[in-house]
Amino acid sequence: MKENFWKKLNKPIIALAPMAGVCDSAFRQVCKSQGADLVYTEMVSADALNYDSKKTLGMLKLDKSESPVVCQIFGKRPEMYPKAIKLVEEAGFDGIDINFGCPARKVVAHGGGVTLMKSLPTCHKLIKTAIESTSLPVSIKIRAGIDEVNAMDLLEFIQDLPVQAIMIHGRGFKDPFSAPIAYDMIKKIKENFNGIVIGNGGINSPEEAKYMIEQTGVDGIGLARGLHGRPWLAQQIKDYIKTGSYQEFDFAKTKEVAINHLELAYKTKGQWGIVETRKHLAWYVKGFEGASELRSKLVKSESISEIINILNKKNLTPESSKA
Ligand SMILES: Cc1cc2nc3c(=O)[nH]c(=O)nc-3n(C[C@H](O)[C@H](O)[C@H](O)COP(=O)(O)O)c2cc1C
Repeated sequence: MKENFWKKLNKPIIALAPMAGVCDSAFRQVCKSQGADLVYTEMVSADALNYDSKKTLGMLKLDKSESPVVCQIFGKRPEMYPKAIKLVEEAGFDGIDINFGCPARKVVAHGGGVTLMKSLPTCHKLIKTAIESTSLPVSIKIRAGIDEVNAMDLLEFIQDLPVQAIMIHGRGFKDPFSAPIAYDMIKKIKENFNGIVIGNGGINSPEEAKYMIEQTGVDGIGLARGLHGRPWLAQQIKDYIKTGSYQEFDFAKTKEVAINHLELAYKTKGQWGIVETRKHLAWYVKGFEGASELRSKLVKSESISEIINILNKKNLTPESSKA
């Protein structure tokens, strides 16, 4: 039986938050090597795992170096959870997370993701089923609230269940990715929950990470868009918290990480990995002067050697804002 990794992590925990279409094995490995203590997968459909979808089963591939790594599942039907969770466990993940925060139209239209928060008994049933289906620690990812239900209502409703950790995105369903962060709600969850609380939302710099921790007292932070093209933000945050300063990344170092990312993507997914990594390449060069010309070449590139050639022809200098 695996140890409960949540109890062994040093605080503050710096986590890569789940992101569909972003957090595949290659990106998780990159984030791990650049300072993340913990990485989440993209959300994986419990229903699709039940139906043995080849594509979805492929999302369970992982590398040992990712550990501790949490697989996030989503789905509103509890009967789909036992088999899905067994497959996740067999794949070698260290923890199971359940998605109660996704605002995507196609998920919400079927009553999944964040809309689950509106039915507290359903949330309870899903979490209970998950816990009873595995010996792995179960965590949940929630939002500050939706309509008349807030994160505290959910927490109170599930307090009999041994949930190990909560990642709370401090925004509601309205303006789901740009509303101001509800630090007060994150703080309340931290004060009322015995397990680990990870604060998430709007952390794009070491200063914002420190602000989240100071405002809410959370045990850790979840980084999402802040890691796009800047996976080293995790290490910068650790350095900043420890020493009060952090190192800037220049183009040479950016290039090194981007090429390593590409090689890992190719190793894990073959040619399709290159295609999928193009968006990351565009993020890597963002903020450097002359990036738009480079970006238009990178998004059409077909091979690792072609991409290395494109990157090596340039030695870009940062615009003022790129950390
Ligand atoms: C492209 C993208 C995909 C996402 N996919 C998921 C997902 O699969 N599961 C989930 O719980 N949250 C998902 N999220 C939400 C993020 O985990 C995070 O809560 C949100 O982006 C707020 O953090 P940020 O302001 O640092 O980006 C996604 C966000 C983005 C931008």
